[in-house]
Amino acid sequence: MMHSIHSKKPLYILAPMDDVTDMPFRQVISSCAKPDLCFSEFVNVDGLMSPGRKRLQRKLESSSSEPPLVAHIWGLKPQNFEAVADSLSGGELAKELGNPKEFAGIDLNMGCPAKAVLKVGAGAGLIKTPNLAAEIIAATKRGAKGRLPLSVKTRLGYDHIDPEWTRFLFASGIDMLSVHLRTVKEMSLVPAHYKELTRLVKERDRISPSTLLIANGDILNRAQGEEIIKEYGIDGVMIGRGVFHDPFAFSFNSPWQNVPTEERIKLFLRHLTLYREWADNPDKGVKRLNKYAKIYINGFDGAKELREKLAQTNTVQQMQEVILA
Ligand SMILES: Cc1cc2nc3c(=O)[nH]c(=O)nc-3n(C[C@H](O)[C@H](O)[C@H](O)COP(=O)(O)O)c2cc1C
Repeated sequence: MMHSIHSKKPLYILAPMDDVTDMPFRQVISSCAKPDLCFSEFVNVDGLMSPGRKRLQRKLESSSSEPPLVAHIWGLKPQNFEAVADSLSGGELAKELGNPKEFAGIDLNMGCPAKAVLKVGAGAGLIKTPNLAAEIIAATKRGAKGRLPLSVKTRLGYDHIDPEWTRFLFASGIDMLSVHLRTVKEMSLVPAHYKELTRLVKERDRISPSTLLIANGDILNRAQGEEIIKEYGIDGVMIGRGVFHDPFAFSFNSPWQNVPTEERIKLFLRHLTLYREWADNPDKGVKRLNKYAKIYINGFDGAKELREKLAQTNTVQQMQEVILA
C-alpha cells in the first residue's frame, strides 16, 4: 500500500474526526465521492495493548467500499507505539479485523487538542515535549520496520507559530506530514494560516524532500483544495468539517446543492442502516447519529422540525420510523 501514500498525484484525504469518521460514515462519504485516503478516528495505543482492546480496535475496521485507511493513533508510551506499529504493519490486526486491505499507513496524532488527550500531555501536548515526540516516532519506526509509511498530523505550534517544531518533524524521517495550519491555542477560532505553507514547503525541500506535505484547515472541498495545492506546490489536502456542509466534498463537481430532499433523506437512511449493521449496540449511537442529521436533514422546508423530532428518539429504529413517517 506504499503507493497510496507515495503517489505522484495530489492526495485528497478525509481528516480524522473523533466520534465522526467511523466506518459507516466513511462508507457514506466514499459512496458520494471517494477520498484518496481516509484516516481512522483516533485510537489510543495503551488501550490497544490492554485486555479491553477488542472493542477499541473496531475503530480500525474498514470495508471494501472505502479508500485505504490510515490508522490514526495516540498515546504517551513509546513501547506501546512500537507494539501497535508492529501489529498494524505486520498485517495481523487488519486480518483479525477482517479488513479487505492492509492499512495504508500509521499516523501519529500530535495535533489534537481534545481534552482527554491534552490532559495527559498527548496529541497536541507533544508539541511541548519534542524529546518524547522523538522517542514515539523512533519507537513506531522500530515497530513498523519499514513495512508501512509513517505520518504525523500536527499543528503549527503550541501557543505560537513554531518553525522549530515542524523542522524537527521533517528531520525525523517521516513519509507524510499533515499540518492543521493553526496553533493549538488558536483552536479553530482564527482563519487557517495558508501563507505558512510557503515556509513549510521550503523547509520540507531542504530537510526532507521525500516527505509529503499535506495542508489542513478550513478547506471545504476538492476545488478549494486544488487551488491551494497549485498555489503552494504541496502534495495534498485534508478535508474535515467540509463534509458536514457537503458529503460530496471530494467530488470534482459536487451536485449537493441540487440534490433533492428525498435523496438527502435516502442518504441518511443509508447511513443509519450501515451504522445499525456495524455497531455493537446501535441504540447507544442515537445521540451520535443525531449529530450527523444536520448534514442530510438540511436545506428544505420542515428540516428543522424533522431534526427536532429525531432528537426525541431513543433507538435507531425509531429514527428510521420518524424519517419515513
Ligand atoms: C469533531 C472533530 C473531531 C476531531 N478529531 C480529531 C482527532 O481525533 N485527531 C486529530 O488529529 N484531529 C481531529 N480533529 C481535527 C481535524 O482533523 C482537522 O484538523 C480540523 O477540523 C481542521 O480541518 P477542517 O477545517 O477541514 O475541519 C477533529 C475535528 C473535529 C471537528
